[in-house]
Amino acid sequence: MISKTKVFKPSIRKAGFGDLSAIHSLDQRLFPPGVRFDFETFYFHLVDPASTILIAEEKDFIGGFVIFERLSSKAGSIVTIDVTPELQGRGIGAKLMGAVSKIARHSGLRWIILQVSCENLGAKEFYEKQGYAVTRLLKGYYQGREDAWEMKRKLVN
Ligand SMILES: CC(C)(COP(=O)(O)OP(=O)(O)OC[C@H]1O[C@@H](n2cnc3c(N)ncnc32)[C@H](O)[C@@H]1OP(=O)(O)O)[C@@H](O)C(=O)NCCC(=O)NCCS
Repeated sequence: MISKTKVFKPSIRKAGFGDLSAIHSLDQRLFPPGVRFDFETFYFHLVDPASTILIAEEKDFIGGFVIFERLSSKAGSIVTIDVTPELQGRGIGAKLMGAVSKIARHSGLRWIILQVSCENLGAKEFYEKQGYAVTRLLKGYYQGREDAWEMKRKLVN
């Protein structure tokens, strides 16, 4: 466990097999059953050549991670982003999103899209601060019950 007052200055690196259990556990803390990913999904994104999992880490402590997936030659998608509850609001999410944008630009992508639950107002605001704007409403996106916003950001070189 990490103290809420500790200064956390993470570096960003690509995830490896040894991170799977920690990021799966973090996702389980943040999302309820039915919404959170199973272990196999994390494994899939780790081995999938179109996906990148980035970790924000300091001294072996994982403060957060993001999964990015290339969808086409022009577009990529944020699959999810999770920051450890005790460390939220300290710029870790923004740092991870910045690292994703850098990778996407280097890959020649023009757009990044994502989906966020209409009930997750905090995450929607966070994404807006990262330059994303709502493009459409996806009715029943989560298990046919919960709506989502699709959000998009144009990358400029
Ligand atoms: C959403 C999340 C990734 C943000 O990460 P974070 O490290 O806490 O965010 P940061 O500290 O980098 O914040 C960056 C900016 O977004 C804003 N922001 C972050 N969370 C916010 C919230 N819940 N409500 C409003 N604004 C928020 C910050 O105020 C900051 O604004 P600033 O640039 O004006 O200072 C994190 O809160 C989280 O893991 N939430 C639970 C999982 C989740 O919902 N993931 C999204 C799935 S779609």
